[in-house]
Amino acid sequence: MCGIVGYVGSDQALPVLLSGMRMLEYRGYDSAGVAIVEDGEIDIVRKAGQIGNLEAALEGNEPSGTLGIGHTRWATHGGPTDGNAHPHRDCTGRVAIVHNGIIENHDVLRAELVAKGHTFESETDTEVAAHLIEQIISDKGSTLLEAVTEAVNILEGAFALVCVRADEPDVIVTARQEPPIIVGAADGVGLVGSDVPALLGHTRDVIPLDNRQIAEVRAGSVRLYDFEGNELEVQTVHIDWDLEAAEKGGYEDFMLKEIHEQPDAVRQTMLGRIDSNGKVSLDEVHWTNGELKDIDKIVIVACGTSYNAGMAAKHAIEHWTRIPVELDLASEFRYRDPVLDNRGLVIGITQSGETADTLAAVRFAREMGARVIAVTNVVGSSITRDADAVIFTHAGPEIGVAATKTFLGQLVALNVLALYLAQERGSMTVDKIRETMAAMEALPSQIEDLLEIKEDVKAAAKRYSEARDIIFIGRGVGMAMALEGALKLKEISYIHAEGYAAGELKHGPIALLQEGVPVVALCTGAKLYDKMLANVEEVRARGASAVIVAPRGDERARDLADDIFEVPATKPLLTPILDAIPLQLFAYYIAKEKGLSPDKPRNLAKSVTVE
Ligand code: M6R
Repeated sequence: MCGIVGYVGSDQALPVLLSGMRMLEYRGYDSAGVAIVEDGEIDIVRKAGQIGNLEAALEGNEPSGTLGIGHTRWATHGGPTDGNAHPHRDCTGRVAIVHNGIIENHDVLRAELVAKGHTFESETDTEVAAHLIEQIISDKGSTLLEAVTEAVNILEGAFALVCVRADEPDVIVTARQEPPIIVGAADGVGLVGSDVPALLGHTRDVIPLDNRQIAEVRAGSVRLYDFEGNELEVQTVHIDWDLEAAEKGGYEDFMLKEIHEQPDAVRQTMLGRIDSNGKVSLDEVHWTNGELKDIDKIVIVACGTSYNAGMAAKHAIEHWTRIPVELDLASEFRYRDPVLDNRGLVIGITQSGETADTLAAVRFAREMGARVIAVTNVVGSSITRDADAVIFTHAGPEIGVAATKTFLGQLVALNVLALYLAQERGSMTVDKIRETMAAMEALPSQIEDLLEIKEDVKAAAKRYSEARDIIFIGRGVGMAMALEGALKLKEISYIHAEGYAAGELKHGPIALLQEGVPVVALCTGAKLYDKMLANVEEVRARGASAVIVAPRGDERARDLADDIFEVPATKPLLTPILDAIPLQLFAYYIAKEKGLSPDKPRNLAKSVTVE
C-alpha cells in the first residue's frame, strides 16, 4: 500500500509534493521519489528509505517545475532499493509513472515489451506500465490520456496509476482499479492523492475515483472517463475534517481506521491467489510436489496476536491437509528441545517481521534442518531473509499498536497456504478447495456489512467498561478468538481479561464468575455450537453476564444473551475472520469509554525487537 501525490498549478510542485507525501507516509516508507516536468523534460529523484533520505538527496538538487508526481513506497515486487523506488520511467525518459497495487500480468507484459526492444531498469511490476504507455504512444501517436486508457485495459490486477509526460507539460492522468485515488481542483490547481490528506491543504472538495475510472487533471479542472473512454459526470464530495484528523482518514484513531480497512486488507491478501485454471496459486512456495508430500509435521511459531492467528490456522491446516501441526510461542520454542528434522516445515508468523523471539525461533528451526515459511506484512523485514519462502499479507502499514488488519491478513494468508498444501498433497477435493476459496472471496463484503454493528458494540462497551475482569470463552477456532479477544481488550483498555477453552471453564476459571462479571462467548462455529450454548448456560447460572458472538439471526443465542453481536454465516474454519470484527470494536470502544488512547497503549511497542 503506497502513497501517491500529484500537483499541477502555478507554484513550485516539489514542496507541495513533499508535504503531501509526508501525510501519506503511513502508507509506506520503503522509499520515496518525485518526478517534475519542466522545459520538455522529466526530472526524477528517488531514494530508498523514508522521506528524509529523499530530502537529503534533493538538497542543492531541487528540480523546479509546476507539475509533478510523488510516491512513498510499501514494497511488494522488488526490494526496497533506490532502483525500485518510484517514479518509474519508459526507455525514452519522456513518460513517468507512480503506482500503488500489484500488476499481476507484469511478467508476461515485460517479456513482450523486451521482445519489442524495451530495456528495464528495475525489478518492479510497475515499470511495465511506463513502457506499455510508451509503446502505445509510439505505435499510435496517442495522447497521454488515450495511451493510459488503452494501457489500463491491458494491465491486470490492482492499480492506482498516476502518469505524466514531458510532451504534455500541463496534464496529469490517473487511473483506478481497486486501490484508492482521489483527485481535486481548486483555483488554478489540480491535485491527485491516494488519500484525502494529500489534497486538504488546497481543497476540501474532492473527487474519489470509482473503480475503472480515469481522470485527466489540469490546473483548475478535472475531467473523468471510464476505461472505455466515455466521459463521465464529475461528482464532488465535501470533506469537513481538519488536517490533523485527516491523516487518520477522518477516524479518531489509527486503530479504528485500520479496523475499517480490513475489507481491503483481506482483498489485497487474496489478490492473485486463484490462477486461470481455478487452482490455488502460491508461487512463493517453490518446492516440488514431492517435497511438499514429504512434509510429516508442521510447527507454527509466533507471539501475541500472530500466535492467535497460528492457533486458528492449526485447525484449518490439520483439517485440510491431515499434517500434524504443533503450535509454539516463539519465546518457548527453542528452549523446549523440540523434535524436528528436514521433513518438518516451520511457519513463522510475524506482522512486523522483526519480533526477536520469532526470528530466533525460525533461525533455530533452520539449524535443525527444517524448511521455514515466513508470513509477514513487511517487505524487506528481517524474517524475509531468514526464511526459505515468504508469504506477504498485503494489509498495508499498520500504525496502531493493537494488531487488527494484519491479523486478518495473517488468517487469510495461512488459510491460502493450508489450501495450497491440501491441493498439492491431494488431501482435499478440487471442488471443496474451490468452494472454500469462494467463501474467502466473499469475506471482504461480509466484513463491510459486519462493520455496521459498531453502534451496538459501542453501546455494549459502555455497559462493561467498568468491569474489573472480562472472560472470553470459545472452542476449536473459537478458542483462538477467545485468546485474541482477551489480548486486544487487555492491551488497550487495561482491564484484566482471559481467554479460555470453554470446556476448561469448569476446571477452575468458573470460580471467578459472579454477578456482573462479563463473559464473552464465541458461538459461531457450527460443530460445537450446542456445547458452547451449554457453557453459556453455566455462566448465566453463576450470575455472570453473557455477551454472545453468534450466527446472524440465531434465536437460541438471542434468548440467552445479555448482549449479542451477530455475525454473517461463513465456513466454520473461516469464522475467526469475521468474529474478529466485534471483538476488536469491543476492545476499542471500551478503551475510548475509559478515556484511553488505543493507538499508544502504555508499555507496548509496535514491534518487539528484544527477547
Ligand atoms: O510483529 P509481530 O506480529 O511479530 O508481533 C507480535 C506481537 O508483539 C503482537 O502481535 C502484539 O501482541 C500486538 N500488540 C497485539 O495486538
